[in-house]
Amino acid sequence: MHRQKLIGIIPGDGIGPEVVRLGRQILEFYRDKRGANLQLWELDLGADRFLRDGVTYPEETAARVKNEASAVLLGALGDPRVPDNRYARDILFGLRFGLDLYANVRPIRALADRLVPLRDRSARDVNMVIFRENTEGIYVGVGGQVRRGTPDEIAINEDVNTRRGVERLIRAGFEYARANGRKSIHMADKSNAMRDAHELWYRCFFEVASEYKEITAKHMYVDAMATAMVQNPSQFELVVACNLFGDILSDLGAAFQGGLGMAASANLHASEPSRVAMFEPVHGSAPPLAGRDLANPFATVLSVGMLLSHIGMPDEEKRLESLVVRAIEEKKCTPDVGGTMGTRAVSEWVLGELGHAFDR
Ligand SMILES: NC(=O)c1ccc[n+]([C@@H]2O[C@H](COP(=O)([O-])OP(=O)(O)OC[C@H]3O[C@@H](n4cnc5c(N)ncnc54)[C@H](O)[C@@H]3O)[C@@H](O)[C@H]2O)c1
Repeated sequence: MHRQKLIGIIPGDGIGPEVVRLGRQILEFYRDKRGANLQLWELDLGADRFLRDGVTYPEETAARVKNEASAVLLGALGDPRVPDNRYARDILFGLRFGLDLYANVRPIRALADRLVPLRDRSARDVNMVIFRENTEGIYVGVGGQVRRGTPDEIAINEDVNTRRGVERLIRAGFEYARANGRKSIHMADKSNAMRDAHELWYRCFFEVASEYKEITAKHMYVDAMATAMVQNPSQFELVVACNLFGDILSDLGAAFQGGLGMAASANLHASEPSRVAMFEPVHGSAPPLAGRDLANPFATVLSVGMLLSHIGMPDEEKRLESLVVRAIEEKKCTPDVGGTMGTRAVSEWVLGELGHAFDR
């Protein structure tokens, strides 16, 4: 890697800083011990900052991220002291929408049999990737409330789907499948009930699919898919879905991996991989766990792996995943995945083993 890569780091709230600490240490390891030309840039954003001076996601920061950074690592945002989550939306949507990171990629891979909670299923049965549309749908904030607080109150959130937005996400799924040897793609929608918006998804899916003859395209209504994922997860290799359904299905998928502490994600502008991308554990700030040394840092480790792949170090993604597999096997892990260690002790183990991996 020649040109220096600027990596923004937003630890965020709750357990965010506890897990991102290890993420940062791993990046420092590659910078200091492996010669990776990285500049790490920690951003003071989140609930504390918002409560201190009202700042959410300043324009200068947004501009530097957009124009100079190669990647951003985000912990989690959300704090009970700010019930309306305004600052968190500004930051998260500032990144996802502001950088046009339209593909939220969530690998659902179980790293050990014992993490799979489904009867008669093993880790072999859980290996899918969910492509969630990340810039449209009901998350765009179009809507409003009328006669708020009265018995006649009306609350509306519009589900916004554009041909361009739907098509590029579906295409990103097919391109990924082609590049990674996945033979089938499922699309989850609700075109029977959402006759306009999701008819667009249905039509667009099969139109794009006709350009990828080697990949089998299958459609399922999202409710049926939720059942099918539990009954037979191994039939799914790659799933494309709108923002809301992708959000829900991927948290369901996280349960097959051992829970939210194991689920990693990338937010990409998939058609131009050289653009800045954002990487984050799927979980939130988990306020009840914060400050208790209980947070599982593996979702962050796996997200850092995806980040390293994005900046041209794909072997390191594999190395970090193997380390997590071994940690689970040897019970060097937190209680949510059957261990007895704290976040810090697990982090020390990971860093120690990462160093040894290069000594051998
Ligand atoms: N991208 C984000 O920043 C993001 C995502 C989801 C939720 N949130 C925010 O986080 C806050 C809490 O939300 P929530 O409770 O619905 O979801 P959450 O993911 O924070 O926590 C749900 C439960 O999952 C478990 N869990 C999550 N992460 C874990 C980890 N690393 N190790 C061990 N167990 C873990 C805990 O039992 C936790 O109580 C809210 O403010 C929400 O808006 C932020």
